Amino acid sequence: MLTPQDNELLCRIENNAAMGRMMRRHWIPACMSQELPEPGGEPIRVRLLGECLVAFRDPQGQVGILAEACPHRRASLLYARNEDGGLRCLYHGWKFSRNGTIVDMPSEPPGSNVATEVKQRAYPVKEAGGMVWAYMGEAQSEPVFDPPVFTVGGNVKLSISKVIVDANWAQVIEGGIDSSHSSSLHSDEMRSAAGLGSAAVVMNERHGVSGAFTINRPSVDKAPRLKVQITDYGMRYVAMRHPIEQADTHEYARVTVYIAPFTLLTPPNASFSLVQYVTPMDDTHTMFHFVAWSDDSLPGHGIDQEVWRTRSGSRVGIDVDKNYRNLRTLENRHLQDRQAMKEGSFSGIRGTGNQDIAMWESMGCITDRAGEWLVSGDVAVARFRRMMVTAVRAFDNGQPPIGAGSAPVFSEIRAFEGVIPKTQDWHSLGLGPVPAIHPEKALGC
Ligand code: FES
Ligand SMILES: [Fe+2]
Repeated sequence: MLTPQDNELLCRIENNAAMGRMMRRHWIPACMSQELPEPGGEPIRVRLLGECLVAFRDPQGQVGILAEACPHRRASLLYARNEDGGLRCLYHGWKFSRNGTIVDMPSEPPGSNVATEVKQRAYPVKEAGGMVWAYMGEAQSEPVFDPPVFTVGGNVKLSISKVIVDANWAQVIEGGIDSSHSSSLHSDEMRSAAGLGSAAVVMNERHGVSGAFTINRPSVDKAPRLKVQITDYGMRYVAMRHPIEQADTHEYARVTVYIAPFTLLTPPNASFSLVQYVTPMDDTHTMFHFVAWSDDSLPGHGIDQEVWRTRSGSRVGIDVDKNYRNLRTLENRHLQDRQAMKEGSFSGIRGTGNQDIAMWESMGCITDRAGEWLVSGDVAVARFRRMMVTAVRAFDNGQPPIGAGSAPVFSEIRAFEGVIPKTQDWHSLGLGPVPAIHPEKALGC
């Protein structure tokens, strides 16, 4: 449990909340590169940390992020013309460069100096690993950008699912560091089968409800034992389960990495590795990007984007609208199918992503953590909260923000899953250089 005061510290990110200020000291996953497919194309709305922004790809191919409301009379720049040199507001024609400078003001007479006095809010942008990243903090505090490892070299297949969740960011992170739920909530898609790891990905449509495939797990153990390691970038934890084979001498280990404040590396399978980006839009809405990536060293070598989105229940136009708003909501109970449950489905909810979202949203926009009863399987969740509340208090007292300024971690840390001897120290799992992958393939889906 968490006191109401600490819950507020953990969850609130809008306006001048300390957690929001700490998040502004990091590069923020803002949207997918594929949402801005063509130079000079349509701007999109991006809401980050309580601010409404527009992202656009200029005719030269560079991405910019500006405040949505025009500084003149606040018309939306979503409607703006995307011209050489910047966005031109439709209403009176003011034109803004990617850095927010006004480069044309046709509504003012010659000699007017208004254009030099006004600036549109603009944020620095990077593009890497299929994502657009924004920095929303003070210029003098801008951290070194640590790109995802799958932009660094190699031969990669990259698929991203995206959905907007009607719940606070911390609930989404907690879903990613809660290993024990997968054995129940996702049991339609995660089946038990002997082996050395989550090796098999099988195309499957079961009960008319589950996703497009099943991941076989080498364990029937539903009560993992969790151990947590707090690090300078966040935390890692292992969930140990008894394996189906060699249970006397081995453990089935799943290591999850949390890179504060936005990134989770969740345990891979034989076909692809997994990254979750959890971006707070405001106090009660969160952008959830789920990345499956692989190089050709993996036997299954990745997953196509539409199959990935089918599995996650986030196909555009079918599961989510074109703005990535989920068509499954609390109001329609996430289209849970009770008949399918009678026929064998555990959850009755299509796709692992929607199963998670149904649980996150059902807890309330900002859940009351004083009303919980945590158990041993919630150790990582409890440590995450304590770590972040401690970090945000320290930040408010002038200490550096957690995770910013430390050595790059994407290239050195991986999640892990597999059957290991009981004598092996789990702390060594997933460490060491991550194989390089070709940058030119990084945007392929
Ligand atoms: S409102 Fe944008 S130029 Fe007037
Ligand atoms: Fe889940």
